[in-house]
Amino acid sequence: PETGCLSIVVLGASGDLAKKKTFPALFHLYRQGFLPPDEVHIFGYARSKISDDDLRNRIQSYLVNDKGSSTEQLDDVSNFLQLIQYLSGSYDSEDGFRLLDKEISEHESSKISAEGSSRRLFYLALPPSVYPSVCKMIKTCCMNKSNLGGWTRIIVEKPFGRDLQSAEQLSTQIGELFDEPQIYRIDHYLGKELVQNMLVLRFANRFFLPLWNRDNIDNVQIVFREDFGTEGRGGYFDQYGIIRDIIQNHLLQVLCLVTMEKPISLKPEHIRDEKVKVLESVLPIRDDEVVLGQYEGYREDPTVPDHSNTPTFATIILRINNERWEGVPFILKAGKALNSRKAEIRVQLKDVPGDIFKCKKQGRNEFVIRLQPSEAIYMKLTVKQPGLEMSTVQSELDLSYKQRYQGVTIPEAYERLILDTIKGDQQHFVRRDELKASWEIFTPLLHKIDDGEFKSIPYKPGSRGPAEADELLERAGYVQTHGY
Ligand code: BG6
Repeated sequence: PETGCLSIVVLGASGDLAKKKTFPALFHLYRQGFLPPDEVHIFGYARSKISDDDLRNRIQSYLVNDKGSSTEQLDDVSNFLQLIQYLSGSYDSEDGFRLLDKEISEHESSKISAEGSSRRLFYLALPPSVYPSVCKMIKTCCMNKSNLGGWTRIIVEKPFGRDLQSAEQLSTQIGELFDEPQIYRIDHYLGKELVQNMLVLRFANRFFLPLWNRDNIDNVQIVFREDFGTEGRGGYFDQYGIIRDIIQNHLLQVLCLVTMEKPISLKPEHIRDEKVKVLESVLPIRDDEVVLGQYEGYREDPTVPDHSNTPTFATIILRINNERWEGVPFILKAGKALNSRKAEIRVQLKDVPGDIFKCKKQGRNEFVIRLQPSEAIYMKLTVKQPGLEMSTVQSELDLSYKQRYQGVTIPEAYERLILDTIKGDQQHFVRRDELKASWEIFTPLLHKIDDGEFKSIPYKPGSRGPAEADELLERAGYVQTHGY
């Protein structure tokens, strides 16, 4: 393992993402011994003029577990907070970044022994509008010193642009400053346990090999639902909408893992090569295979314009033009303020030919991977109804993680991905060409929406979304199974 000083800089340290996700993820890594205090120092950097203690106080409540914390955990929290130092500065002037470099160097000189190196990780918990200037400042002022060895890596968050052109422009600007192996484009869905499990399920199980194609699979749904609205994020959300917020990144990444061919190996480049191939095989989205919605009350948020048409719900069908998937609809569905919070993949198989049991109406075989909450993998299948009658019933083969892996804590996505960055493993990060291919799929539709060619259909908060989306699902061939 690499030794020496690891400096983690959280830019945008006083913001929401840093507070809710980045610092808690760092804390969990610290508790598990991945951030040894004799090597690691954490810097928070933002514009607000606050003190070290102000930042520590802001973060603290997100580190303490709701159910009441043990003394041991409280000690860990306070020890962890002591590793954090705050610096205030702007995102486009050298002064702040020179000071940051000076502070990092001081820590390095006290911690780096003869064989140790300088490792610098910059987490940009910031809006993408400031990425170019922040990257330039890091490059100018804060790179690891070459005589010490080590590395400098940056983690960037979505949204990477608003469409193909702006994303490419951003990629070019960042690409002029950093090489691809230094850039970690984070999509936190790639850090979720059951998303990571997808390749194992598909490629380590004989069961699925012959089934996973257009001959057997009728349709696939990848669904994200939230039972709350934009909650104070209306200003941000209204500029992006549900397609850019969830579908173009999170759900599309899941789609890649469901549909890609088997990579040559688990090397990040091999996996990402296959993802790009499948993305490039996606056909243009058809207008009649899109339903958009907006929940009633969304525009009451004072930061949302009165006439906003921004979708908070979308169902979109993607079709993949290759030998494995031609003709299979991939239904991507995401919505805010719906009736439940759930993310899942539903793979529905075709009907069994020659239905001697007359059980077709009970439903089809379905394979479901529930990403959250309560991670589970289950198969819906038809069995004989127990008893004297020769009748059938739909039942489930169920692998519920809570029951099967009692006592195992499933790591948070951010925790895993930050650790991967420290290790230099880009397998679960989005490569530049992958990002480009994903914007290529959605940009024509997004432009039409921006030009007012699609209207968002109003739906009631707490509902399933617009009825038109269920109709689209039916048209795509989805058959409601018993109990769903
Ligand atoms: C974020 C979106 O990327 O993902 C949010 O910006 C959304 O709008 C969130 O709420 C959902 O993440 P998770 O992990 O709770 O499904």
